[in-house]
Amino acid sequence: MKLPVLVGIPILAISTLLAGLAIAQSSGGVHSLRGTEIEDLRAVDEVHKQVEGRLTRNYRQQPPLIPHAIEQYQIDKRTNQCLSCHDWTVAGERRAPTLSMTHYLDREGRQLDTVAGTRWFCNQCHVPQVNAPELVGNDFLPSSAER
Ligand code: HEC
Ligand code: HEC
Repeated sequence: MKLPVLVGIPILAISTLLAGLAIAQSSGGVHSLRGTEIEDLRAVDEVHKQVEGRLTRNYRQQPPLIPHAIEQYQIDKRTNQCLSCHDWTVAGERRAPTLSMTHYLDREGRQLDTVAGTRWFCNQCHVPQVNAPELVGNDFLPSSAER
């Protein structure tokens, strides 16, 4: 009972496809997905530059936003280039803010000399900003505006 039904579906699909192709061919002309003629140059969308300079926190516990470019700084299982400027051992000479001391506490609250594993992937919490139109609108207000 089931077999003819299953065979029927591909046949129907193929014939619909063929009919579709025939219509597309007869309507003539290829339409570019770019919305312009193929020979025409199309202006590239504006590239939104990263905001430089330190930004005010929106609520007291907010991880500070990153005020500099980060695409060159590798973070993986072994390497963390952020630490080459922000670790307490080097921050002074690199003139960078030292990692928060909370980043040197393990899960049990013990003080460590090296950054805790839970803080290894910095951009889990710290992100740069770009002044671009929102992809999804929102009505977020900093906590200071709520007072
Ligand atoms: C070449 C050195 C250098 C490297 C590498 C570096 N930073 Fe920085 N970072 C700085 C300096 C210098 C500042 C201070 C900038 C200022 O005051 O305008 C800063 C500021 C920051 C701040 C702001 C802190 C605050 O209190 O406002 C954050 C967060 C930060 N960096 C995160 C990172 C992360 C995450 C990485 C790795 C992806 C990284 N940085 C890599 C030099 C560096
Ligand atoms: C789990 C989230 C989290 C991760 C991961 C994390 N941070 Fe933070 N960071 C914070 C928060 C929250 C603060 C502010 C509150 C505090 O001091 O703990 C902060 C503060 C800082 C500050 C400012 C310190 C100061 O005194 O002004 C710097 C610099 C910083 N982090 C750099 C880093 C770097 C570099 C890494 C990666 C090695 C990193 N953080 C990983 C959440 C995180």
